[in-house]
Amino acid sequence: MDKILIIDDNPAVGQALGLLLKLNGLDAESALTPQAGLKRLAEGGISLVIQDMNFTADTTSGEEGKALFFAIRERCPDIPIILLTAWTELEMAVNLVKAGAADYLGKPWDDAKLIATVQNLLELAELSQQQAMARDRHHQRQTKLAANFDLAGLVYQSDAMQRLVEMAVQVAKADVPVLITGPNGAGKEKIAEIIQRNSQVAAGPFVRVNAGALPLDLMEAELFGAEPGAYTGLNKTRIGRFEAADGGTLFLDEIGNLSLSGQMKLLRVLQTGEFERLGSTQTRKVRVRLISATNTDLPAAIGQGQFREDLYYRLNVIELSLPPLRERREDILPLARHFLAGRPLSLDACRMLEAYDWPGNVRELENCLKRAMLLALDHRIEGTDLNLPAPRQSRPRPAFEPDEQQLRDVLAQAPSLAEAARLLGLSRQALYRRLEKYGISPP
Ligand SMILES: Nc1ncnc2c1ncn2[C@@H]1O[C@H](COP(=O)(O)OP(=O)(O)OP(=O)(O)O)[C@@H](O)[C@H]1O
Ligand SMILES: [Mg+2]
Repeated sequence: MDKILIIDDNPAVGQALGLLLKLNGLDAESALTPQAGLKRLAEGGISLVIQDMNFTADTTSGEEGKALFFAIRERCPDIPIILLTAWTELEMAVNLVKAGAADYLGKPWDDAKLIATVQNLLELAELSQQQAMARDRHHQRQTKLAANFDLAGLVYQSDAMQRLVEMAVQVAKADVPVLITGPNGAGKEKIAEIIQRNSQVAAGPFVRVNAGALPLDLMEAELFGAEPGAYTGLNKTRIGRFEAADGGTLFLDEIGNLSLSGQMKLLRVLQTGEFERLGSTQTRKVRVRLISATNTDLPAAIGQGQFREDLYYRLNVIELSLPPLRERREDILPLARHFLAGRPLSLDACRMLEAYDWPGNVRELENCLKRAMLLALDHRIEGTDLNLPAPRQSRPRPAFEPDEQQLRDVLAQAPSLAEAARLLGLSRQALYRRLEKYGISPP
């Protein structure tokens, strides 16, 4: 449970505040001198401090309080501090809030306001602690993965992608077929690349075939090869992609488009490694790691008799399912920065990118930013350069947590700190806390 430390030389204040907090379900302890307060803080377990500004009889300068405030800040930079001030100390209180105090309350305090302030601060502190912990955890996992595997330049931030990439590098080593499913432009080919690069046959050929790119009858010749005369116009031997991929990896994209007879031949290669070139009776044998991908619903295609069920179960021994970008919005801004390669982005543009649903997923995001870079010529990319449709219905904005670069961008643009805070949707104190956290000095 959260414990609040009250530091005030007047025991009556500690008692009254302690009782008030207790009545509101909060736990408090008090200390009568700055030294005792600092000692108690060092023992740990304190979530918030309420401190007086004067500790010696007849002093009113507030200097003791100021010194205490900075001493606490130095030792425990994340603990919110509320200052209890007399009206004569208003200016100092405001300056200390600028220096990172959470808030100040005039003596005599208003009970309801004090409780509301304390509860708010505790909630906020817990939230930012959770966010920081999640970011740290994520960062560690990502760094570890990138150190041990070739991630083919994949950019991601979401937990969903983290799990998917962990699974991809894990199955990469095994000699089993992998099926990658997911909507258009979500990054299926990128995941296939990661699997290939971390597989035991990474040094072998990596052959890519798009089963949707050729007419059905030519596809079989493309995959399995053909002898001269196997079809009109063919006058020399055509080496199929399976042969070309021998000892390596074949990436078969849009597998849902393969003809039924092509599917039958594919099933046989998967089972035995054997096939014949079109127009030949000579059976050939290859060892190929197959990675396939589709954006169609294969179980539905099976239901309609368009896809062989036995082939499906062969292909999807391992299925990696890529979520659409709108279901992993944390990836949007990191991807945007990657595609922009250093071109600055306004906060407004960031918010629009994050709020949009991206039916064309990462490819649509990439194209949108390429266009915006052209439109914006040499200036910063604004929301209007993105040319995104207005949201169909207003829905609550996702909670926005600016990162260090965004903080710097906004500070550089905003005429005042108050305006910067407003643009970021943060209170002034919350902005100060973030500046402090990243070691950015306010302009
Ligand atoms: N996480 C990512 N990090 C970096 N680049 C990405 C990422 N995801 C996708 N891309 C890029 O976005 C584009 C589309 O990705 P990709 O071709 O892998 O998608 P796809 O799912 O295979 O699409 P389609 O269904 O249209 O074949 C590519 O240029 C790819 O490099
Ligand atoms: Mg693709």
